[in-house]
Amino acid sequence: MKQQNESIKSLDTLFIKTYGCQMNEYDSARMADMMKQAYGLRLVAAPEEADVILMNTCSIREKAEDKVYSELGRYKKLKDKRPDMIIGVGGCVGQQEGERIQKRAPYVDIVFGPQSYHRLPEMVKEIRRHRVHVSQTDMPEIEKFDHLPKAESHGVTGCVTIMEGCDKFCTFCVVPYTRGPEISRSVESILEECRDQLAGGTVEISLLGQNVNAYRGPGPDGQEWDFTMLLYAVAELPGLKRLRFSTSHPMEMTSELCQAFAEIPQLMPYLHLPVQSGSDHVLKLMHRGHDRATYFRIIDELRAHCPDIALSSDFIVGYPGETDEDFEATLDLVRRVVYDSAYCFKYSPRPGTPASKSEDSVPEEVKDARLQRLLELTREQSRAAMQQQLGKRLEVLVEKAGRNAGDMEGRTADFKIIHFKGQMRQIGQLMPVTVTEAYGQSLRGELILAGD
Ligand code: SAH
Ligand code: SF4
Ligand code: F3S
Repeated sequence: MKQQNESIKSLDTLFIKTYGCQMNEYDSARMADMMKQAYGLRLVAAPEEADVILMNTCSIREKAEDKVYSELGRYKKLKDKRPDMIIGVGGCVGQQEGERIQKRAPYVDIVFGPQSYHRLPEMVKEIRRHRVHVSQTDMPEIEKFDHLPKAESHGVTGCVTIMEGCDKFCTFCVVPYTRGPEISRSVESILEECRDQLAGGTVEISLLGQNVNAYRGPGPDGQEWDFTMLLYAVAELPGLKRLRFSTSHPMEMTSELCQAFAEIPQLMPYLHLPVQSGSDHVLKLMHRGHDRATYFRIIDELRAHCPDIALSSDFIVGYPGETDEDFEATLDLVRRVVYDSAYCFKYSPRPGTPASKSEDSVPEEVKDARLQRLLELTREQSRAAMQQQLGKRLEVLVEKAGRNAGDMEGRTADFKIIHFKGQMRQIGQLMPVTVTEAYGQSLRGELILAGD
């Protein structure tokens, strides 16, 4: 419903630029829903067409702030021509930089953080009335989830954020500062959002949290539920074909959770379990809370319950104090675990983190060389994982049209992208596909139709 207020009549369109993790993607979708319900704003694909521009930013690695300011420079030119336009900066850079953003870029009307975006409609109203800067970066006690409208559109796959923040305080990481402490939603509100998505046609749900398996939320029985209990409850929802979750921390991988991969048919055999380093010395410096032996034990337990589980991880090379020997230990861990995919990063000091107080001691060229070697190894493992699929008959969830005409795109149970000739009406269905070709990042296959 469009508000009747005269002064906000000219707002029609919204552009959101999203950086960062899946939680930011989720938040951006919620912002769009909220602005649609409050002001009737319609999402557009280009900032040039927008009356309101929101940036949902990420500050996990270096140059994040620079990227934000250079993008903002582009928006300033638009605003010079159309001074009525509203520009907002949210997300983790918004939280971290706060009003400093408006000091440096005075044309930014609104600054907000990941825990205060449910107040966006209010902030926009204030801007339209008074044309003053608004900034909201406190982390209110109340749950923002209580204030968010229902999701408006539903795809074949959907995400539900189940908890916020992080209490782990790894020494290199900004998340505990930008997203705040761990807060878990109630089981009932999560189930309700899942039911709503399933009713709208979604068949696969990913439960999200920066530390998703640290979930501890109030259950309908008045008891605290842990993550595994929640998984069993979500899996029972009618209409759910596939269930996934991300991102898990090794320290929260309980035996019950490992076992869930064997017991819950809807839970797909894929797990992203970041380890960061294979060296006990570096793991300790990072405050990860576990050593390599513990990580190996978890992997063994997972594979005992689910032999085909595909694993992926994040790695940081060049953490302050990382020696050649430490790095070799990381390569060794990768060789032993064998990953389907990996995300490898060079360490970058982040403002306000404990690690940023130590000297960034590993020279850039050493970081580069280590990154290169790690990438070679992990890419080789990814290629091998793809090759192993050749000739297999896999169950694929058809998700959307592929890029080439007549092609459809879907995912295998273990999260590999696969293309095949198919029909639009198959979207949302689970179909058997024989794998005929394997590339670096995706597979190609042929649909097996009834009677084949
Ligand atoms: N909560 C997840 C990951 C969060 S951030 C976990 O605990 O594993 C995603 C990834 O970014 C991290 O796993 C880490 O590999 C990388 N990362 C975080 N801070 C970084 C930094 N300062 N420099 C380089 N990479 C970083
Ligand atoms: Fe960051 Fe560590 Fe928390 Fe992950 S567990 S979000 S790396 S502090
Ligand atoms: Fe980035 Fe914030 Fe997510 S720093 S990775 S957007 S939690």
